[in-house]
Amino acid sequence: MKALVLAGGTGTRLRPFSHTMPKQLIPVANKPVLVHILQDLRAQGLTEVGIVVGGYAEDIAEALGDGRALGLRITYLPQDAPRGLAHGVAVAREFLGDDDFVMYLGDNMLPQGIGGVLDDFRAHRTPARLAVQPVADPRAFGVAELDAERRVVRVVEKPARPRSDLALIGVYVFTARIHEAVAAIGPSARGELEITDAVQWLIDRGHDVRASRHTGYWRDMGSVDDMLECNREMLRTLVPEVAGTVDDSSRITGAVRIGAGSRVAGSTITGPVCIGRGTVVEGSVIGPDTAVGDGCVVTGSEVSYSIVLDAATVDGVEGLHGSVIGRAAQVTSAGPERRHRLMVGDHASVRLQTT
Ligand code: TTP
Repeated sequence: MKALVLAGGTGTRLRPFSHTMPKQLIPVANKPVLVHILQDLRAQGLTEVGIVVGGYAEDIAEALGDGRALGLRITYLPQDAPRGLAHGVAVAREFLGDDDFVMYLGDNMLPQGIGGVLDDFRAHRTPARLAVQPVADPRAFGVAELDAERRVVRVVEKPARPRSDLALIGVYVFTARIHEAVAAIGPSARGELEITDAVQWLIDRGHDVRASRHTGYWRDMGSVDDMLECNREMLRTLVPEVAGTVDDSSRITGAVRIGAGSRVAGSTITGPVCIGRGTVVEGSVIGPDTAVGDGCVVTGSEVSYSIVLDAATVDGVEGLHGSVIGRAAQVTSAGPERRHRLMVGDHASVRLQTT
């Protein structure tokens, strides 16, 4: 079995961050989403991985290389424009050959992994198997309707009036039969080749399509709020380790990871918190639920429930909460402030001041 990871797309909902980096490389608990996904695939014994890439092809290839470091063999599959998830399958046609494959959307986080779905497929191999989970408001998702035997009878993309609460959560297992369906369908009203249309094509021709309920955590990194929530969730399983230095006047409680070459002085860190390598934290209060990347400087600040990306500076900012600070961005404050919520893109410079 092969794996196909979709990492093209535009990521409009993740602006400003997606202006300067692909959303699939945004770090969650200091590790890119794509790396979490690839490690999940590897844990399931899959090693042949095709990654569909778009405008950020070079950044993704630079971050992952040929996959050897992750125990994988990665083939990059360029997609000229985001023409839909089924178009991603078409782009991968040659790479996939006639093998069964799991398709994993590159912005999806399932910390407990896709083992359950794959086990179901192996126990009962059908042309398509969709990972699903009940959601409160299915209107924003592809939705699967099942019959009494748990056979999928209909899949609908973002229905206005959903007839089921089972959302498709971005993991699909297919046999080579799907290629016939992808070749047969045309673009949808929004101009994309929809994977839901391809699956419906199979159902309409009498093929057995099944759903597997994923019982673990799941979130797609569609918005900044998703990023923060996902980061919090991933930090819950953080293995504490202090490789950097912490001075005597600092206080560390809860699960905290501090990378090599980082220095913490006169600060209080309340886990779960992970701090990357070569970062300086001084006179600050950090955590809980916060990830600070590599090469950052955080001085005289309070940061909780936030993500600070590599090489960012936060200086003199109190009450920074629910925020994402982009790579090499600088946030400084001159005055006494209360609480801030900031989404600061890469290389931006923000100065907070009360007059
Ligand atoms: P989406 O989140 O549906 O689309 P998007 O990335 O364009 O984001 P937005 O809606 O905010 O503009 O995509 C799901 C995943 O599939 C994501 O990792 C991008 C990837 N993808 C492709 O690789 N090719 C495509 O043609 C599309 C539509 C998505």
